[in-house]
Amino acid sequence: MADRGRIASGVCSELKWLIDHYIIDFYVDEYWKKVPSSWEILDRLSDQEWSRVMDEQTQLSLSIPLPLSLICLRSLLSAFSLVNRNCRESLKEVNIDYDRVREYQSLTVYEKRKVKEKKRGEIERVVPLLRAIRDARPFSSFVDIGSGLGHLTRAIVSSIPLLCVRGVEGSEELVERAMELDEKRKEKRVARMRVWVDGESKELLGDDQAVCVGGLHACGDLSPSIIRLALSQSTVSACLLFGCCFHKLNGGRDKLFRQEWEGMEEGKRRENGFPMSEQMKGERLSYAARELACHSKSAYVKQLREKGVNHGHHGVRAMGELLISRVGGGRHLGLRGVSMERMGRSEDVMKWIDRAMVDHPLLRDTIKEKLSHGCPSLPPVDSIPSLISSFSSTLTTLYNLRLMVAPFVEDLILIDRVAAMRESGMTSTVVRLFDPVISPRCFALIGLR
Ligand SMILES: C[S@@+](CC[C@H](N)C(=O)[O-])C[C@H]1O[C@@H](n2cnc3c(N)ncnc32)[C@H](O)[C@@H]1O
Repeated sequence: MADRGRIASGVCSELKWLIDHYIIDFYVDEYWKKVPSSWEILDRLSDQEWSRVMDEQTQLSLSIPLPLSLICLRSLLSAFSLVNRNCRESLKEVNIDYDRVREYQSLTVYEKRKVKEKKRGEIERVVPLLRAIRDARPFSSFVDIGSGLGHLTRAIVSSIPLLCVRGVEGSEELVERAMELDEKRKEKRVARMRVWVDGESKELLGDDQAVCVGGLHACGDLSPSIIRLALSQSTVSACLLFGCCFHKLNGGRDKLFRQEWEGMEEGKRRENGFPMSEQMKGERLSYAARELACHSKSAYVKQLREKGVNHGHHGVRAMGELLISRVGGGRHLGLRGVSMERMGRSEDVMKWIDRAMVDHPLLRDTIKEKLSHGCPSLPPVDSIPSLISSFSSTLTTLYNLRLMVAPFVEDLILIDRVAAMRESGMTSTVVRLFDPVISPRCFALIGLR
């Protein structure tokens, strides 16, 4: 795992220029100038070809020779990224038998009505894994933190006999709705608590001497809090965690330009959600990089292969960002999405501005006025559509390259969590449990004391 961490770290620091930049800043930062000259050829790849480049498991057959550095990146992703790692092999690291998990899969029972397909797929894999973990490290209660509507907790009580199950959730509304759903069931063994959890919420664990703590899609800093709780309390015998929303780590306070429109101070560090371990203490990931780690590369590759992807709206939004920055407006304001069909004609730039900037009328009027009278700091209005279309392939290349490398950013966050657990004496691993096309956050973090 440490080797994987080193490779992911090396690639992320080498490609910092790529993972730290948003596509919306394409024109403002003249992003195309950052692309190594040997990669310019990538602008010629079709969507189909990109889908093959980005899927490390497929055979490469392309109309152009791929730059050596990209072949190398592809090989590294294939050999070292966690998404390409075999589930059986990862489970072996914590002495859990994959066949056992498969056997338990057929024994999972739960109320399928009203549970969305994605959640069903997840429940059908989490419950058997939890049973197999319990065989390896017995525990008498399971505490699901950030339990939302409680689908997982209800499936666990129905499938695992004699296990005490608690659902902990910060949102009062969700706790109430979960309790209403519990009421409709014969099986009512879930105890529900409304608590906003942090790393010191040890009261959640009760008096049990062997507890498993976990969370399904425990967003942002909730995952590090659950890990801290598990590490600090000796009664926690196991932890089963699925993280998400990595951009919200460390309070998400390093979001670029947020201070401009929220009137808050920039980026004071709180208790660290990343990095947590000694091993990774020198690592830093920007908000943009952590947000990139939340994308679904697998789903995107499927879309490229089946339908193709049009990034026209990204080009227009990036142009909007350039206009805003040139008139001194607040950056990354959140422009409305506008369909792009009519951007071929110059007057449509004005129409686009009208619709995209409806939430920012003053700024909108300033830009429109300056564009219609001509202004040295802005591109001539007639040139804007061709400016957008002439850069569209490069923008697509950058978008695809960012997504290609995204798995290594997520790996860094996950490997840091494994390292933090191991440094505290727990056995730990990461397992790709879900189908990443359906559940982009597909990794289970397992910790055993
Ligand atoms: C992405 S949702 C997942 C819900 C559920 N586990 C599922 O998979 O359907 C994350 C949940 O965690 C809750 N949450 C986030 N931070 C929390 C905290 N510090 N303490 C308690 N609940 C929290 C949210 O209110 C939300 O319901």
